[in-house]
Amino acid sequence: MRILVLNGPNLDVLHLRDPTLYGGISLHDLESRIYAWASELGLSARCEQTNHEGGALDLLHEALDWADGLVINPGAWTHYSYALRDAVELFKVPVVEVHLSDIDAREDFRKHSVIAELATFRVTGKGPDGYREALELLAATVPA
Ligand code: DQA
Repeated sequence: MRILVLNGPNLDVLHLRDPTLYGGISLHDLESRIYAWASELGLSARCEQTNHEGGALDLLHEALDWADGLVINPGAWTHYSYALRDAVELFKVPVVEVHLSDIDAREDFRKHSVIAELATFRVTGKGPDGYREALELLAATVPA
């Protein structure tokens, strides 16, 4: 079971962002945990991060050919990118929308997600462990 884990803008500088919201972890450490969790769960994860919307779309289009599941934290694109939404809509496999912070308990503009209605599951406000939960949800869903 091959899973694309895609992190969007500003998640490359996770270690510089508010630790009370984002867990005080670096992207490198987060991705190391994701690879370890995936391997425990018998999943094959491929972690990607980009600050470029077009690059994210290209990664998603490529993943249509190989991914059995998608974990996506679209960062701020969550709240307004219909281009990203259209790309996510192409997925026939389960999609998990992940946010480190609890976007429903923050500024009003963060409460709206253009991805939400396409997501099979949503995991918000659980910090880095939210990615583990996302992988567990996929492991339980994706046929062997
Ligand atoms: C985020 C929440 C978004 O509102 C924000 O723009 C991010 C990160 C999260 O993981 O909590 O960059 O997606």
